[in-house]
Amino acid sequence: MKKIIISGILGLMVLLAGIAGCSKQNEDALSKKAGAAGCDTTSVQYAADIVPILQANCYECHGSTTNSGSGGIVLDGYAHLQSWAANGYLLGTITHAPGYVGMPYLRPQLPDCEISKIRAWIDQGAKNN
Ligand code: HEC
Repeated sequence: MKKIIISGILGLMVLLAGIAGCSKQNEDALSKKAGAAGCDTTSVQYAADIVPILQANCYECHGSTTNSGSGGIVLDGYAHLQSWAANGYLLGTITHAPGYVGMPYLRPQLPDCEISKIRAWIDQGAKNN
């Protein structure tokens, strides 16, 4: 009888831990969607906001001379980036959306605020500003 009670309690703990883990994931997904707290996305500029993010995280593999092993994809320069913004790949890859190869390649996702800024820049028309 004691054994049954103990295994029952253990089972319940495992179940609760599973539920807690799951809702944490949902929270993360929501905060990505809404934009990270304290992250200013009201007017995102290509030169001042977007280029520094890509410089630090993408040009190493997708620069104008550093792309031979990266699908030949160039993200350096407005015209190049604009086409990847327009076809959905820029946002799809950095948000790890299904059907896209997650970027930065084999590395952790960008911080929420950087993803929010890129998303806002695209939503604001992906301008050369
Ligand atoms: C360490 C090198 C590396 C870094 C850093 C990197 N990429 Fe990539 N990227 C790759 C490789 C390799 C591929 C080709 C992957 C494939 O086709 O399997 C690729 C492909 C892509 C594609 C096309 C994806 C597709 O689904 O066909 C996009 C868009 C892209 N990268 C954007 C980015 C962005 C944006 C960043 C920075 C946030 C970034 N990459 C950082 C190596 C990199």
